[in-house]
Amino acid sequence: MRIIMLGAPGAGKGTQAKRISDQYDIPHISTGDIFRANIKNGTELGVKAKTYMDQGLLVPDELVVDLIVDRLRQDDCVKGYILDGFPRTIPQAEALAIALNANGEKIDFAINVEVPDTNIIHRMAGRRACVNCGRTYHIVNIPPKAEGICDACGGQLVLRDDDKPETVAKRLDVYHQQTKPLIEFYSSKGILAVVDGTKEMDEVFAAIEKELNKK
Ligand code: AP5
Repeated sequence: MRIIMLGAPGAGKGTQAKRISDQYDIPHISTGDIFRANIKNGTELGVKAKTYMDQGLLVPDELVVDLIVDRLRQDDCVKGYILDGFPRTIPQAEALAIALNANGEKIDFAINVEVPDTNIIHRMAGRRACVNCGRTYHIVNIPPKAEGICDACGGQLVLRDDDKPETVAKRLDVYHQQTKPLIEFYSSKGILAVVDGTKEMDEVFAAIEKELNKK
């Protein structure tokens, strides 16, 4: 099963993608996590990506597409995967379709997690991410057992650089201009499923499962 998660920054794509990955035993491929790992390791890609991410802008398509297409050719993707944060522009979606088509493959589901901008601002301000394993929490909705410490690995929990309010506003602008058109793109292909991302996390996951079980 090949799945794409769509939705605004902070809509809960990563949270749900991890659950789908566990449930269906397919890899969760997050472009944001890949870039953050590169930034942490000081790679050339990380240095380039950081300049865009810190401003709330998208990393240029040419730095993203080949990276993901190569990732999808790895052995663990044979049964499928869940893409979180890619594609994010129409050119990325077209490049993905061409690369998959060349292997006789296609995306099965594009799941749009719908959350209004007003909810997003609250979510981002409360999100904390583990510097070590990347797991995310929310100081009110999903607090860790011990404040500031990751339940999974004991790493330190921090506010992401791009979760500062001024950067979140820019990311939302960029989402509306460059990423939202993907909803129509996948709707026109008949593979779009829309779920209400303002519900409790378990309810959102149940709605996603219902959509995935339709085929
Ligand atoms: P990326 O890391 O992909 O960020 P994003 O899409 O902005 O999404 P987020 O990770 O911020 O949010 P999410 O939807 O996963 O929500 P989450 O589950 O964490 O990308 C970062 C940057 O990298 C981009 O800005 C760009 O610069 C660059 N980039 C990445 N991919 C790119 C690409 N393809 N092309 C170009 N550039 C690219 O949830 C958010 C919070 O809400 C959490 O605290 C969570 O606990 C909480 N929460 C989740 N669900 C619920 C719920 N149902 N109820 C209450 N709280 C909830």
